[in-house]
Amino acid sequence: MNGQLEVVADAGTLAHRAAEFIAQRAAHANERFTLVLSGGSTPRAVYQLLAQAPFMNEIPWGKLQLFWGDERCVPPDDADSNYRMAREALLDHVPLTPAQIHRMAGERPPSEAAAAYEQDLRLLFGGDLLPRFDLVLLGLGEDGHTASLFPGTAALHETNHWVVANEVPQLHTERLTMSFPVLNNAKDVVFLVSGPGKRAVLQRIFAPVAGQELLPSQRIQPTHGALHWLLDQAAAPELVR
Ligand code: 6PG
Repeated sequence: MNGQLEVVADAGTLAHRAAEFIAQRAAHANERFTLVLSGGSTPRAVYQLLAQAPFMNEIPWGKLQLFWGDERCVPPDDADSNYRMAREALLDHVPLTPAQIHRMAGERPPSEAAAAYEQDLRLLFGGDLLPRFDLVLLGLGEDGHTASLFPGTAALHETNHWVVANEVPQLHTERLTMSFPVLNNAKDVVFLVSGPGKRAVLQRIFAPVAGQELLPSQRIQPTHGALHWLLDQAAAPELVR
């Protein structure tokens, strides 16, 4: 396993540590801080903390540009929407303008939504160069997926597009997701992993067996950035506790 590893006592400590990390990176950013939010349930507590003191007062909100690493193909007010989770936990409570919030349009036809998001990125990052996000937050599924890069799906092989619509047969759905080239171009990538359900997949990641196919999350290897694993004790396999 490459990257820096930190194991903390519990989910609450993990959320606080993640909020500290985000606030610290944002505070040291120059004129802009581009942050890619993760979906799922783990980050909710992190986003809630960011909207409270002390982080609420430490973060230079005017510098932030918020993105999503993936989104479900649902409307923004759907219970499954990653945007809705972030809106309820964070966006409704902090001084961000609509122009700072780059939502993936889960309500649109997936391929259109992916193309539109990529166009948004090209406009914001200035053309054809791969965007280099300041900080990407990622979760880890028990099957080793991250963002919406699921085992055995087409998006794992995407090398050109920055954002794609990805058919996920195991979920009987399509998802929108950033691709490996974009995620691996970030300055900092942080996996936030909590709970005993993730212990087995972390065991496979931290003690890889030669010849075993890499899980999608194992293919997150920043080309010129830093990878961080932030785990709580419940998720951490024996060998890293
Ligand atoms: C999503 C996420 C996904 C998530 C993992 C972990 O849209 O669901 O992007 O990759 O991070 O499935 O989810 P939990 O935090 O709920 O365990």
